[in-house]
Amino acid sequence: MTENSYDIPSYLHRDLLGIEGLTPPEISYLLDRSESFIEHNRQADKKLDILHGRTVINLFFENSTRTSTSFELAALRLGADVINMAVAQSSVRKGETLIDTAMTLNAMHPDILVVRHSESGAVKLLAEKVKCAVISGGDGSHEHPTQALLDALTIRRRRGDLSALTVAICGDVLHSRVARSNIHLLNTMGARVRLIAPRTLLPSKIEAMGVEVFHDMVEGLKDCDIVMMLRLQKERMAANFFPSAREYFHFFGLTYEKLAMTKPDALIMHPGPMNRGVEIDTEVADDYGRSVIREQVEMGVAVRMACLETLGLRNKDEAQERAP
Ligand code: CP
Repeated sequence: MTENSYDIPSYLHRDLLGIEGLTPPEISYLLDRSESFIEHNRQADKKLDILHGRTVINLFFENSTRTSTSFELAALRLGADVINMAVAQSSVRKGETLIDTAMTLNAMHPDILVVRHSESGAVKLLAEKVKCAVISGGDGSHEHPTQALLDALTIRRRRGDLSALTVAICGDVLHSRVARSNIHLLNTMGARVRLIAPRTLLPSKIEAMGVEVFHDMVEGLKDCDIVMMLRLQKERMAANFFPSAREYFHFFGLTYEKLAMTKPDALIMHPGPMNRGVEIDTEVADDYGRSVIREQVEMGVAVRMACLETLGLRNKDEAQERAP
């Protein structure tokens, strides 16, 4: 398990800031490496030494349960030393800028920074200022690359080849970094992507991303293989984008009635956290014959192990090359 059977150059970047720009072999490589950790994570003894001696700092400027916990677990299981920086108790609260924070952490020679930030582009800006590898844990409404990878892993394990599938992404696309990363990944891997949302919750000219757009769930869900629901991101809404939660649920909430339009074995997905009774009916969410929401969380640890392993080993090699 400690041996990496792949050549490290299968993934050719120092960082993982988004899915946009990754090639199909790079995505497949990360998914294959993730696959190798799934059974391992189900064993009693989960400790490996792949990143022994490496330091990972988790820097979350926005709230998180799934992403922050799974990155921490992933790093610990790979044998790395992990620091979770408590932003609320840090000098950020005294007015220290993102860049100064990054430079300060950089001076402590971490190997990987995992960063979540509320501003689109902030993680890229930070990555330009540090020497270590940077993995995005989500930036604004831009990208959430490890979420798209764990979604793809979940789908691939259940349905095989992504290129044979039609995936409906439904709800608050406008504010969703999960939607953007999934659109990039699914398009790159050859899947058909449909977006179903009210006009107010869709970015203008979104069709240019190579998706089909629907404003009616019944129409858009017809014969889909996968239904990916999105959280209504009220914290990013400066105005009212729909009349009421009740009306939103009526038109865009996933119910068994609407689900009847999909293929009979269509999978139900949600990145979490869920607004039950707003974007998804609670019985549908908990229908573990079809809902893979808990499985998505499990895959999240494996995917984050694969990403940390890939970037951690790459940096180790480069560090060795730079040594006198
Ligand atoms: N899906 C996701 O990013 O969840 P968290 O906000 O809990 O990390």
